Amino acid sequence: MTDARSKDETFEYAGATVVLVDAATVLAAARVNPVELMRRASWPAPVNRVDLTVSSANRKMTSVHTFSAAISTAEEPLSKERIRKLVLGNDPVGLLLAKRIEAGDPIATRIVDGVGAAAAAAYKKLGLDRQSQPVTNREPGTLADAVVGLQAEMTYDETGTVVRLHAEVPRDEVTPAHLQAFVGLTLQAVIELTGPDSLTGRRFVVSRETVSKVPQTTQTVTLDMVGGLADVVSELREIAVSFRHPEAMARWGARRPQGILMYGPPGTGKTMLSRALANEIGADFREIRTPEILDKWLGGSERNIKQIFRDARRYRVPTLMLFDEFDSIISYAGSGGDAASQAINAVAGIFKQEMNDLIEANPNVIVVATTNFPHRVDDSLIRSGRFDVKISVPKPDDASRAEIFRKMIRGLIATHEAPGFQMFADDLDLAALATASHGLTGADIKEILRRVQLAKAMQDARTGGRVDPITTEDLLASVRELLAPR
Ligand SMILES: Nc1ncnc2c1ncn2[C@@H]1O[C@H](COP(=O)(O)OP(=O)(O)OP(=O)(O)O)[C@@H](O)[C@H]1O
Ligand SMILES: [Mg+2]
Repeated sequence: MTDARSKDETFEYAGATVVLVDAATVLAAARVNPVELMRRASWPAPVNRVDLTVSSANRKMTSVHTFSAAISTAEEPLSKERIRKLVLGNDPVGLLLAKRIEAGDPIATRIVDGVGAAAAAAYKKLGLDRQSQPVTNREPGTLADAVVGLQAEMTYDETGTVVRLHAEVPRDEVTPAHLQAFVGLTLQAVIELTGPDSLTGRRFVVSRETVSKVPQTTQTVTLDMVGGLADVVSELREIAVSFRHPEAMARWGARRPQGILMYGPPGTGKTMLSRALANEIGADFREIRTPEILDKWLGGSERNIKQIFRDARRYRVPTLMLFDEFDSIISYAGSGGDAASQAINAVAGIFKQEMNDLIEANPNVIVVATTNFPHRVDDSLIRSGRFDVKISVPKPDDASRAEIFRKMIRGLIATHEAPGFQMFADDLDLAALATASHGLTGADIKEILRRVQLAKAMQDARTGGRVDPITTEDLLASVRELLAPR
């Protein structure tokens, strides 16, 4: 687990000392919730505030970390003028240079290694200066860090008092060096506004200490948080791509999946995957539970399911409808002639009918149904194309359980660890945990962690004192406890 943590790092930028506290954790936390940095720092005039945020977002094919900075300045004409200059790329360190870097110009790249005014001067000397652009052609400016290849786009708001920097790095590639580079670019942008040497001798601490913690219940679940199930995750990513590109589908006369059936044992992550898919698509999530449909009164269930689809046909925003634990309805209802079976048969009939043309009626909707009993599922749902994708979500194997442990623990570290509080020991033996938890699911692993967290919290509460971080042995004991026959 040592790779889940990194030590603080100190670097110099334009005469200022910058302490980057635990960048790896900042990046990990940003996957779950936006992390705000540098809010409390003080700045030279006219800059009065800088909000630096690291968060995550979904792009066409990948997830990215987004770095953004909002540099607020006092409202005065001078700063406005400066901002314009900076953003419109009149500044030689701006747009043109970025373009040359993009084109692979080694000189331009080297210039960016220097900073601010010095780079600008060097740029002029090389005759690479350019005429100022007409104000109508407002392309955003760019600042770039050649070392890690980070480019930040620069824009400003209408009032002319806030400069924004924005950069993105694919989640698989993001490293603390990118965060460091972005902090550097932000400071560079500040220098452009406040003048050379304005940061000399200052000290900035970049840490997530000041983060206002969002309660865990509002956390978004992402596909990256799923352990194991690599094939399932990549299939869901593909589906998300097809959903987000109706124009490509239309061009080729293709039809994206409209219904996904997920089946597998309890606790293997079906509901989690549905939520994560909604998030990947950027869709609202609407969960429909069986009790919401079934009604003991004659005709009540039919009315309910009809109403659910009537609503669905009107959704204006992308929406993922999850019929969770839907076995009782999409399965063969049995041939019983009693009123209850008849009602379920009727509901199943309406459901099938509605699924026939849902996507044509409303391309904003995608449906997921989950079940623990695939063999009971009515084949006509699959054959007819009402559900075009059938996904098995099995119990995790050893490697997958190790990954689930790792991801969950990382998530906990990112959410709960803070300077001075270490939640987990550094040398956790994930392989041992995976072996010991043979036969258990993701939900079980979550429970194992929950119990250990509770035990530690209780110990903390009782003693009011120091409690050791959670060790492999603590976790193994919890695994054994869960596996012990009652
Ligand atoms: N592969 C996994 N990776 C990470 N976490 C997992 C995984 N599987 C399960 N979990 C955790 O277990 C919790 C419960 O899983 P979930 O509710 O998605 O299971 P399920 O398959 O829907 O179960 P059921 O069939 O009982 O509805 C999830 O919220 C998640 O925290
Ligand atoms: Mg479920």
